Amino acid sequence: MQSDSNHLSLLQPHNRHTFDAPWFDAWLSEHQNQVEQTLDAFMPKPDVSPTDLHQAMRWAVLGGGKRVRGALLLAAGQACHPSIDLATLTSLNAAAAAVELVHAYSLIHDDLPCMDDDILRRGKPTTHVQFGEAVALLAGDAMQPLAFEWLAQLPVAPALIVQSIQCFSHALGSLGMAGGQAIDLISTGKIQTDLELAQMHRLKTGALLEASVVMGAIITAANSKQREALKIYARAIGLAFQVIDDVLDVTANTNQLGKTAGKDQQDHKSTYVSLMGVERAQDFAIELYDQAVEAIQSFGEQGAALRGLAHFIVYRSN
Ligand code: IPE
Ligand code: IPE
Ligand code: MG
Ligand code: MG
Ligand code: MG
Repeated sequence: MQSDSNHLSLLQPHNRHTFDAPWFDAWLSEHQNQVEQTLDAFMPKPDVSPTDLHQAMRWAVLGGGKRVRGALLLAAGQACHPSIDLATLTSLNAAAAAVELVHAYSLIHDDLPCMDDDILRRGKPTTHVQFGEAVALLAGDAMQPLAFEWLAQLPVAPALIVQSIQCFSHALGSLGMAGGQAIDLISTGKIQTDLELAQMHRLKTGALLEASVVMGAIITAANSKQREALKIYARAIGLAFQVIDDVLDVTANTNQLGKTAGKDQQDHKSTYVSLMGVERAQDFAIELYDQAVEAIQSFGEQGAALRGLAHFIVYRSN
């Protein structure tokens, strides 16, 4: 049994990297607000029939979440194309809303009784607790194609839309998020090797984060050198994101997380904490942070928001 003081020392990873950029909090909060406003404007209104379904969709996607995927897409766009014109900006905002919409759908399904069986999400009852399982299932079903409808209408060159849709759909399917979730289910209660665990995390969580970054590059018509650098960055932070999610399940409390703490251990999930313990998992996430930052060095100042997001992902508290 750990002493209290030991436990407290685990709450924050040893911050090897002071990220001295006071502007970043304001940058993040401005972009979170932007994503929220776009989602609110684009989502079907709650009084549109079928009202239950639309209310459930809005419940799941509005008024919560860190908006990391949307922010990554916007930061990648800014890194590739600093003097953004209005059509590109509109497109980036719509695509940022689309990735957050799909993420919210994945959370509805992840929380269902047949999956992780969770009752709390973003500090509120989960969608199936609030609206019933059938409506929650359908809300997820409806949110995924809605995101593609938004992408199909982006005011950019059609070839860029096609590339975005290809990237996004691949990330969500059986070779991406859905596949990772399937591996998560069959791995519960089992011991995975580090390679198996990394692969599961890259698919269930990393794939959507990676696609968010790459879509920011596609929409701004980034060159192949920029895209390659961003892919390496995204692969590293995509995995780091889930490593830290595993850590926070143990080191943070329910209030902080807005979801039930300690749930992974309770459910015998295979996680980085079950594989290597909290401290080594944190160190691994920090190594991935170093890789991510190294990969985007060539962007210079234009990559500052991406660096800020990498730091946020690894040193966050919820
Ligand atoms: C939670 O994602 C689910 C995972 C993929 C680990 P987030 O931690 O980004 O959840 P929100 O969007 O901030 O609620
Ligand atoms: C969720 O992973 C991954 C997806 C939603 C695709 P977790 O099951 O660890 O996410 P939380 O901890 O419930 O947010
Ligand atoms: Mg899960
Ligand atoms: Mg879960
Ligand atoms: Mg988790």
